[in-house]
Amino acid sequence: MASSMRSLLSDGQQYAETFHEFLNHSTEHQCMLEFIEKKLPAIVQRLAKICKEDNCAALLSRFANRKSTIEILGVGSGTGEIDLQMISQIQTHLPGVLLNYDVIEPTQEHILKFKDLVAKTSDLKNINFTWHMKTSSEYEKDMNETQESKTFDFIHLIQMMYYVKDASSTLKFFKSLLASNGILLILIISGSSGWASLWKTYGHRLPLNDLCVYITSSDIKNMLDEAEYKYTYYELPSEMDITECFVEGSKTGTLLLDFLTETYNFEKTAPPDLKAEIMDTLKQPECSIIRDGKIIFNNTLTALLVEP
Ligand SMILES: C[S@@+](CC[C@H](N)C(=O)[O-])C[C@H]1O[C@@H](n2cnc3c(N)ncnc32)[C@H](O)[C@@H]1O
Repeated sequence: MASSMRSLLSDGQQYAETFHEFLNHSTEHQCMLEFIEKKLPAIVQRLAKICKEDNCAALLSRFANRKSTIEILGVGSGTGEIDLQMISQIQTHLPGVLLNYDVIEPTQEHILKFKDLVAKTSDLKNINFTWHMKTSSEYEKDMNETQESKTFDFIHLIQMMYYVKDASSTLKFFKSLLASNGILLILIISGSSGWASLWKTYGHRLPLNDLCVYITSSDIKNMLDEAEYKYTYYELPSEMDITECFVEGSKTGTLLLDFLTETYNFEKTAPPDLKAEIMDTLKQPECSIIRDGKIIFNNTLTALLVEP
């Protein structure tokens, strides 16, 4: 690995910019929204301990009568678009229920955008946000130091497990924060995605460090199996248009390449042989398909629901 390559996470602003480009060029959030629309009502239903009946709306309103506050924790929530969609779904199904919504998010730019979005969303009612501008391990450390014993009904770790030092102990920590009947949702890149092939081949030559770990749903499943946790999972097909990465001088392409390699300024800092190999691999069938002249990267995600 060339010494000048460094992790994208080492520069919060660049990270935020590349993430923004990634969202603009992928169906990442669309596939999450589909999952939220189709599956979240059932998740809330399970939270309500009333799984055996058929009429979801009726069940949810019974839950609303029973429980007046739901504690939710979003970890690595980013700029909050997905969180707000989940909030909207939960509130649609549980009108009048108060949501206490904690957010753990270390990137200041993301917290600010999330707060902006909250301020702009006019129909947000019955919700209290608590912002923790820190990493999940800092949060864990603070919880341990203060011996706080807060629990949550719903905790989600969406596309953030790459950024923790010890994924297995992070999973155990957040599972330990679940209230009885609480649900832990993990959304992560699928072991069958283009990312998995890319990382398997090149992970060791990219600036893998404390800040980023190339893990996929296959690794998470192994960890959950090892811990003997029960879970269900769903594959969520998604794609990313990486055509711009092959357009000479494209700013968008440069940012997308940074995001794909998790490397700050990959184009300028990567050794030429590594760059050539990665550019070639990105076009191969294990990573992408060619459709209508565009290069479409396999961005399939996996949603894992861990039982309490
Ligand atoms: C790929 S983004 C996903 C954001 C959001 N969940 C979504 O899917 O739109 C990853 C987020 O995790 C945050 N993050 C990075 N390291 C983290 C850590 N150690 N603990 C918690 N969040 C972290 C980043 O700042 C970023 O906002």
